[in-house]
Amino acid sequence: MGAPLPRWIAHRGGGKLAPENTLAGIRLAARLGYRAVEFDVMLSADGTPLLIHDETLERTTNGSGQVCETPDAVLFALDAGNGERIPRFAEAAVLCRELGLLANVEIKPATGHELATAEVVARMTADLWRGAAVPPLISSFSLAALEVARDLAPEIRRGVLFEAPPPDWLAQLQRLQAVSLHCDADLLSDEVLAEAQAHDIPVLCYTVNAPEQAKTLFARGVSALFTDRLDLFAQ
Ligand code: G3P
Ligand code: MG
Repeated sequence: MGAPLPRWIAHRGGGKLAPENTLAGIRLAARLGYRAVEFDVMLSADGTPLLIHDETLERTTNGSGQVCETPDAVLFALDAGNGERIPRFAEAAVLCRELGLLANVEIKPATGHELATAEVVARMTADLWRGAAVPPLISSFSLAALEVARDLAPEIRRGVLFEAPPPDWLAQLQRLQAVSLHCDADLLSDEVLAEAQAHDIPVLCYTVNAPEQAKTLFARGVSALFTDRLDLFAQ
């Protein structure tokens, strides 16, 4: 799939050791020796891409309401934990490049905003990582978003995210010209894994926080794991 894939990917920036999807989390992952981080990207009401997982602000910030209905002036003044701000996507990109981290940019559109989110994120990813030594990897559960990314930034690698890969997962990957399959660690069947291996497609599983489970998945031939437990799997 081009540039090599680290075996461990810090989930939502710093996993559970730092406020999720923050610059502090990304810095922590690098400090602990991680060479890859995953984070979620959504648009504000002003169309600015930012790092956040939920469509609503309550769980991870001191704000409330829908992310996609909240303007930048409000969003970027919120506390995302320990005094951290919600990062703009551009800030996270610059930091990942500085730290030499592989960024797995998960396009996480608010419902109904799939195409707009993908357009902005795909174009910005291509710009922000132009000439980068470590190229990023875009992923999404939204196949419509990945289609936009394929068309607007074909040079940026894509991974397709499923909870459980559906029977036509390989056809979907091929249609999206994607290089990797990402799925729930508990829902990866031997059949899907064998099919991926037969086509030389790396499989990445989320979210693995137990050493025994990690051992089993690597033994089965999974390529990389997303973890919240950065302390357990420090590199
Ligand atoms: O990209 C892997 C993983 O982050 C997908 O699940 O809900 O944590 O974004 P979620
Ligand atoms: Mg994610």
